[in-house]
Amino acid sequence: MDGPAARRAFLAAVLRRPARIGAVAPSSPELGALLASIVPCHGTPVVVELGAGTGAISDMIAARLPAGARHLAVEVDPALAEYLRRSRPGLEVVEGDATQLAALLAERGVAAVDAVVSGLPWALFGSAAQRAILGHVADVIGPTGGFTTFAYRHAMPMAAARRFRRTLHEVFDEVLVTRTVWRNVPPAFGYVCRRPAPAAVR
Ligand SMILES: C[S@@+](CC[C@H](N)C(=O)[O-])C[C@H]1O[C@@H](n2cnc3c(N)ncnc32)[C@H](O)[C@@H]1O
Repeated sequence: MDGPAARRAFLAAVLRRPARIGAVAPSSPELGALLASIVPCHGTPVVVELGAGTGAISDMIAARLPAGARHLAVEVDPALAEYLRRSRPGLEVVEGDATQLAALLAERGVAAVDAVVSGLPWALFGSAAQRAILGHVADVIGPTGGFTTFAYRHAMPMAAARRFRRTLHEVFDEVLVTRTVWRNVPPAFGYVCRRPAPAAVR
């Protein structure tokens, strides 16, 4: 949607807080489309995006959404949240921390969600944050919703990335690994997750 401006805003965020962004560039349209593929194209779905950044994945979600759908984009970085508000007036930008997802959604009257699409840098999070966010996601999608997220191929040897994959398998009954998007910088693959385990197991 906004190539050079998005790259500038993204780079500025990386320079401000490299450990919060966890990427060198916005996601490619190919990766965005792959992650957005769980978003329903019919009815009036509610979709939540986590770590929306400069909106690379938001655009792929928006392209699928029918009229009357709700698209909330959670972003912790105030400058990026402001960038999203300015560049995408139709997006419901939620400036906040994904670890507080349940409260952020409750404040907006959202109790259930059809799909959650994440662009969060999971490998930078500790175990408690990973589990807290995934627990919120599991609660809001319930037995019928879906969740997608991505991981960078080169980061898979990292302990936090391997722990994240194990936690996905604990939290969700179904965890599918997608093909690798080689044109993404750096190459990345997706996880497609459904049917959360009972809360007691998490
Ligand atoms: C790897 S970037 C992805 C940005 C965008 N979704 C994309 O794919 O180009 C990660 C994004 O997650 C945001 N983020 C990091 N920690 C977060 C948190 N706890 N809650 C909400 N957003 C967070 C960062 O500010 C950044 O915008």
